Amino acid sequence: MTRQIHLGAFLNAGVQGTAGWRHPDASPKFLTADHYVRMAKILEEGRFDFAFVPDALSVPRSLGGSFAPAVNWGSGTPRLDPIPVVSMMAAATTHLGVAATVSTGYHEPYNVAREFATLDHLTGGRSGWNVVTSFQDAEAQNFGQRRLPPRDQRYGRAEEFLEVTTRLWDSWADDAIVGDKQSGVFGRPEAVEALDHEGEHFRVRGPLSVPRPPQGYPVIIQAGASESGRSFAARWADVIFCSHASLESAIAFYTDVKARAAAHGRDPDQLKILPAATPVIGRDTADAIARHEAFADLVSVEAGLSRLAYHVNVDLTKYDPDGPLPPLEEVGVEGHYREVVEFAAKNELTVGQIGRWYGARTEGSMVGSAGEIADVIEQWVDAGAADGFVIQAAHVPGSFDEFVTGVVPELQRRGRFRTEYEGTTLRDNLGLNRPGRGEWKARRA
Ligand SMILES: Cc1cc2nc3c(=O)[nH]c(=O)nc-3n(C[C@H](O)[C@H](O)[C@H](O)COP(=O)(O)O)c2cc1C
Repeated sequence: MTRQIHLGAFLNAGVQGTAGWRHPDASPKFLTADHYVRMAKILEEGRFDFAFVPDALSVPRSLGGSFAPAVNWGSGTPRLDPIPVVSMMAAATTHLGVAATVSTGYHEPYNVAREFATLDHLTGGRSGWNVVTSFQDAEAQNFGQRRLPPRDQRYGRAEEFLEVTTRLWDSWADDAIVGDKQSGVFGRPEAVEALDHEGEHFRVRGPLSVPRPPQGYPVIIQAGASESGRSFAARWADVIFCSHASLESAIAFYTDVKARAAAHGRDPDQLKILPAATPVIGRDTADAIARHEAFADLVSVEAGLSRLAYHVNVDLTKYDPDGPLPPLEEVGVEGHYREVVEFAAKNELTVGQIGRWYGARTEGSMVGSAGEIADVIEQWVDAGAADGFVIQAAHVPGSFDEFVTGVVPELQRRGRFRTEYEGTTLRDNLGLNRPGRGEWKARRA
């Protein structure tokens, strides 16, 4: 059988991308529950594996240390808290997975384990956690720090965070609740364990106040691109997000991360790699190009640069907009930075031109008819660059609507995408095994 494709939807709990809110058809109701419920229904109609809500804990101060550009252009702000948003989406659906981003930098494992265990129970096993270590100084400054801690320190904390969280999920055996009304025995104390964890970052006694999640562990998502990030993701993640400027760099990443998972004793197929893509769909190629150009016209150079500065955590106002971008050190999102370096070198772009391109870029070269976009999706999966994609919407709900009515049926016709959900949990639909109690021992470094 041909490899089945997995699809996630990248949905900001706010405005989309750099100028998604300016699109003539963009809904302005992004602060209402109806907006997210509407999107959840569209995505479930399209048999998407899951909807994913990204997050950051600040209003970016990416240009000149001020939040004014972010507010002015609606870039990286506003952001609603993802957990209530995905809860609403799950309540309105029956099979769609829901994944929320929570940073290991600015929470405690007990709260996060409890939050996702609750979400997993309430959704019948449809939850996912996008584990991030955060990437901006502006976030650090909301939590008593002056600067973002160095990457190794962030991943060190994340490593211990994941160990404690998974152990908390494991603190109840799957059959710990008896609920015997006759005898009055509710649960078996011998099936519930404390952790008594004392580590470098956390001291957690346990057990968790919520029984083991239906999925064992909610689906763990990560997007590490650096050396430490890849090593962390290859061990802990069930799903990896990435972002690439070319098929070649996507193949190199895919091969590297799958090999790391295998070296750690994991079945590489139990790790799904989903690059981000922003499809622009038209009646034909020319129509799609015209639509993309019309969208790109909504993105100012400053808005694009503000977004890039936010992603790389470097104030780009210090560079000449008419000159090349010099090499940057210790960037925020390494994957996006590499993408920029690759694309800018190939096309000899100045800083200003990079800003304009970055603000309107369509990862995965997906500008075309529905058939052409399905071709690219198949090509990347068959070339060993992806197990599917996380689809970013240029604007909502239009971009998801067009994808679901155009590209999804095309993939289904080609036998590459489900017409019905395979199971009831997110793990079922992604083809991922349910982790047994104690799986954390195999995942840690
Ligand atoms: C598709 C995608 C989605 C991401 N979503 C978030 C997010 O919601 N919040 C966040 O702080 N970082 C997000 N990131 C950034 C990653 O979590 C990570 O910081 C980044 O890839 C850098 O990894 P590194 O620290 O290993 O270089 C995302 C990255 C990608 C490619």
